[in-house]
Amino acid sequence: MDSNKIKELVSQMTVEEKASFCVGKDFWHVQGLERLGIPSVMLTDGPHGLRKQAGTGDHLGLGSSNPAICFPAGCATASSFDPEIAELVGVELGKLCQAEDVSTILGPAMNIKRSPLCGRNFEYLSEDPLVSNKMGAGEIKGIQSQNVGACPKHFLANNQELYRQTSNSIVDEQTLREIYLASFEDAVKEAKPWTIMCSYNKINGTYASENELFMTDILRGEWDFDGYMMTDWGACDNPVDSVAAGMDLCMPGPGPDNVRRIKEAAEDGTLPMDVLDRAVERVLNIVFRYSENHVKDAVYDFEAGHEAARKVETESAILLKNEDAVLPLKEGEKIVYIGEYVKAPRYQGGGSSHINPYKISSVWDEVGEKDGVSYVKGYDLKTETIDAAAAAAAAKEADKAVIFAGLPDSYETEGLDRTHMDIPRYQNDLIAAVAAVQPNTIVVLHNGSPVSMPWIDDVKGVLELYLGGEAVGLAAADLLYGKVNPSGRLTETFPIRIEDTPTYPYYGVEKDDVKYREERLVGYRYYETVKKPVLFPFGYGLSYTTFAYDNLQLDKEAMTDAEELKVSVDVTNTGAIAGKEVVQIYVAPCRTGAVRPVRELRAFEKIALEPGETKTVTVSLSKRAFAEWNVSIHDWYVPSGVYQIQVLSLIHI
Ligand code: BGC
Repeated sequence: MDSNKIKELVSQMTVEEKASFCVGKDFWHVQGLERLGIPSVMLTDGPHGLRKQAGTGDHLGLGSSNPAICFPAGCATASSFDPEIAELVGVELGKLCQAEDVSTILGPAMNIKRSPLCGRNFEYLSEDPLVSNKMGAGEIKGIQSQNVGACPKHFLANNQELYRQTSNSIVDEQTLREIYLASFEDAVKEAKPWTIMCSYNKINGTYASENELFMTDILRGEWDFDGYMMTDWGACDNPVDSVAAGMDLCMPGPGPDNVRRIKEAAEDGTLPMDVLDRAVERVLNIVFRYSENHVKDAVYDFEAGHEAARKVETESAILLKNEDAVLPLKEGEKIVYIGEYVKAPRYQGGGSSHINPYKISSVWDEVGEKDGVSYVKGYDLKTETIDAAAAAAAAKEADKAVIFAGLPDSYETEGLDRTHMDIPRYQNDLIAAVAAVQPNTIVVLHNGSPVSMPWIDDVKGVLELYLGGEAVGLAAADLLYGKVNPSGRLTETFPIRIEDTPTYPYYGVEKDDVKYREERLVGYRYYETVKKPVLFPFGYGLSYTTFAYDNLQLDKEAMTDAEELKVSVDVTNTGAIAGKEVVQIYVAPCRTGAVRPVRELRAFEKIALEPGETKTVTVSLSKRAFAEWNVSIHDWYVPSGVYQIQVLSLIHI
């Protein structure tokens, strides 16, 4: 509907009706108005599946929801380093939204992983803003290609679950611009989300839901956001201040008191009427964008969705260790599969993203019939006990042992942060017992964030599945047997110990004022700058083939602010099978005296290569790739000097 018609509709509303459009109708719906032909549309979680609740609503993933495809969580999908894979997830989500008549899905979740302990890291995409942006943009584009709204969240500086509703993130301007705002910036500019959700917390003293600087000046003024802004569920503290600052919709509803307060403020002039009109217009614009394009008889193909979930996970899982080419497994080898997760995988996290899956495929469903394959439970998740003797005996008899281990449900959920990075001790004990008798031991991990691996030197293979969605078992089989060559790369660092992380002394300790003391040195920006050894670095991941880099070319020696630098490099698959490589281009600045990260990822591209094939990857780097945020001029600024372009090839630890 064009903007004049929307203005006309708003002009026909009473003040109370206008106010009611700024507050949810109920837990999951935006207000409608039959008299003016305005439908009431639905919003539903996100971000890696549809949690459409037909009955009572809740925002903790407790109540039931309609069956939906549970795609790999953000931690996994982002590791594909392939925006087209994120887009595929988005397209499937959008299709199901059309079939379920959901106008907007609440995702992607794009907060930066500031510490591995954040309980919601499994939903988030990366410790790096470029990866977060590119992968987030992919999902947004996919969702919106189906005429359904996406809702990047939680804007802004919401990087812990502890006291998330009351804490005050104290972040300096430069860090905000370079890390936390940057994590949303390009996605908003490029993919143009229909809506954005603010977070619960305050930022430098002002609630995100009342923050004019971020919601109006930056999102709309600088980044051209033209959708509507909604609060997280219950994040509206003062509805009048929120609407005045640029908030359009306070969720959830009903909220008669909020409606009354907005109405009274508009009537007595505390809230200018044109500001209220503006909020209602923004909401209606998106409501009609969906309702006018809603496909009434859309039917979702769940089998195709399940296959899509499998594909996403096969492109995303990361091969972390593969000594003596212990993987891929070969037909005819005697393999023992160990662990409860072999038959009942852990594939999603807890909280508002919790999906009622269409069906779950375990690795056992796929490999259980193979010759020479056997199963031992090994550990019991409920009693937290192990049968090390049985597991070791079976492992000894086999050619290889594959243990499925990881974090149980209770370890990773919205609302709670972890306090350590360990998987349960009983699982570590079991791995040690098996590895002691079987030199060809492989650990397959289900977890949504980094874990310590005390047994890393005693096993030959590690495959990181993250929380791989409902088809994770199919993907695991594809990768373990080499039907698909692993190509995921870590979008976050795996530290050796939690004590090594930049936020260790205060993360999970500060509850009210949470000071982002590490500033820009988040994730690899910290480890690489202070040269701290890590278990697995950002960007890391192995393949069953090998790649060689050659012929790095820059098209100029020096550049001005207005120019772009073209970087090209040849990549060759030097192994015997087809594979995919993630070409990562970093910029290392000259030393400026400031504590600037030693290098930052500025471009990446995933390419597929047949054996012996060479491809030239070319990327353009603009001023921004070299710039830092200058707090004196409040703008991006490139200190003059020498910069190095670094291309990361496979690192072996
Ligand atoms: C979460 C959001 C979610 C909302 C609705 C909140 O608790 O932080 O991510 O979209 O609930 O369920």
